[in-house]
Formats: sequence, C-alpha cells, structure tokens
Amino acid sequence: MYITGNYETIAFELKENIGYLTINREKKLNALNSQVLSELKTLLTHFIEEDKGQTIKGVIITGAGEKAFIAGADIAQMQNMSVEEARDFGALGQEVSLLFEKLPMPIIACVNGFALGGGCEMAMSCDFIYATESAVFGQPEVKLGLIPGFGGTQRLSKIVGRNRAKEIIYTGRNVKAEEALSIGLAIKLFPTKEEMIAGALKTFSYMLSNSPNAIKISKKVMNEGNDLTVTQGLTCELEQFAAVFSSEDMQEGTKAFIEKRAPNFTGN
Ligand code: CAA
Repeated sequence: MYITGNYETIAFELKENIGYLTINREKKLNALNSQVLSELKTLLTHFIEEDKGQTIKGVIITGAGEKAFIAGADIAQMQNMSVEEARDFGALGQEVSLLFEKLPMPIIACVNGFALGGGCEMAMSCDFIYATESAVFGQPEVKLGLIPGFGGTQRLSKIVGRNRAKEIIYTGRNVKAEEALSIGLAIKLFPTKEEMIAGALKTFSYMLSNSPNAIKISKKVMNEGNDLTVTQGLTCELEQFAAVFSSEDMQEGTKAFIEKRAPNFTGN
C-alpha cells in the first residue's frame, strides 16, 4: 500500500506500479464536493511533486460501486453557494482537472455507470476514457440552471467538435456508451467493470515496455499543444524533441535497437 495521507472520500492503492484511484462516495453516486476535490488535489500534487512517475507508472481512476463513475458536482453543496463561493468551488474543480493533465504518468478514466456534469469533465481531463457498455455520459447542468464549471464548455468541444458539444450541453441529454464511442468521447467499451480494468491494465502493459520519459514528454507536448496554434505547437514539439536527445532513455532505446535487444528504460 502506498501511503500518501488519510482520505475519506477517495481511495488510492498501488499494485505493481499501477495506481488505482477511486472516488469513494458511493451512496452519493461519487458526487464531487469540496472535500473530494481537496483530497484529489493533495493526492495528485503528491504524484506530480514527489513521486514524479518514479513509482507510479500509470493511474486508473474509477468510481466506487457499479452505478456511477461520478454523477457530477455535489448539487446539495452548490445549492446555497454565493457567487464568490461558487467561483472558489469552480476554481478548485478546474485546478484538479488541470492536475490530471499535468500528471507525469498516463491516467485512464475507467467509466462505470454515470459520468455526468463534473464526472464527464474529470473523465475528459484524463488521457483517454474507457467505459462499460452501460456507461452514461452527459453535461446536464442547464437542467439545473447551471453551466459546466470544471472544463466541460472547453474540453468537450475539443474532443467531439464544438457543434456536437453545443447540442449535448444545450439539451443536457444523456450520451450512452455506444454514442460516446462513436463520437470519440470514450475510445473502448467493455461488458463489465472488471473487464474494463483488465483492459486498462493490458494497455498499461504495452506502455510500460516503452520509455516512461518519452511518454511523459509526449503527454506534456500534446496537452500544451491543445491551447496553441499548430505553428506554436510545432515549436513546442521541436524543443522537446531535441531535449529528449540528452535523456538516458533515448540513449538506451536507440542503442538497444542497434544491438537488436530489448531496451532497459529507467525513465530518465
Ligand atoms: N450531487 C449530489 N448528490 C447526488 C448527485 C449530485 N450530482 N447525484 C446523485 N446524488 C445523490 C442523490 O441525491 C441521492 O442521495 P440520497 O440517497 O441521499 O437521496 C443518491 O445520490 C442516489 O441518487 P438518486 O437517488 O438520484 O439515483 P437515481 O438512480 O434515481 O438517479 C442519476 C441517478 C440520474 C444520476 C441522478 O442521481 C441525477 O440526475 N444526479 C444528478 C446528475 C447531475 O445533474 N449532474 C450534474 C451536476 S452539476 C455539475 O456537475 C456542475 C459542474 O459542471 C461543475
């Protein structure tokens, strides 16, 4: 067990270098209140500043139970918030979403059941989404007089295209797993939660034979490029492409190819 603190609303376990992060408010369908967000912030900051991908090579995030990944931000908590409190709450949710993007290791959102509102938004902040065949996505905020506040107005457009995102956000309708797959929101479906976790582990097993440093830098350049023009993104890519030539992993990977053997990457 990897100890990073005492958490009440999330759980984290490390097995064979893969971290299992669970949102743990099953009775409230894993809805995100300030406590969940604060605990996520602490844990993810630890991954970025302390672990740095040395122990944790990949993360799988799921929701506790079978019914929901995350059914959204906590509506009961939001109901009486002032404008200032809402700003702080939204800022914390957005900060957590950015921490997912800044993780030095890949993270797969494994969506079981409902991923609504803030749940869909957190899943979209991960590197990619696997889902069960019964998963349900959506941004139903307008049904509550709200708008998406943890990145949905921005990331959904980038993933599925702006006009499709507008239709989903304006109607607040459910997007079932098959449709999520067809529009690229989820990239693979599985019959059960267990098969989905096994699928994510299989994907990690392919990644773990590659250079952790090269994966980390690819992630950084791709996420940063999301906010840039293609020309600016190419500048960023070129800088990092050149920088990896000073890495041990690049020396080892190219040497191993020439010597016709498997590489032994250290992640440095
Ligand atoms: N916030 C707080 N509590 C929630 C919740 C949420 N987002 N979603 C579910 N719950 C709670 C319910 O209140 C209920 O609690 P009690 O047992 O104490 O009454 C418990 O979880 C179980 O939920 P239901 O009884 O409603 O379960 P169901 O199977 O009948 O319905 C559901 C499931 C369709 C997902 C329904 O719970 C639902 O519509 N939830 C809200 C979905 C939603 O609107 N999400 C967006 C929130 S706004 C947001 O996320 C803003 C943002 O972008 C930051």
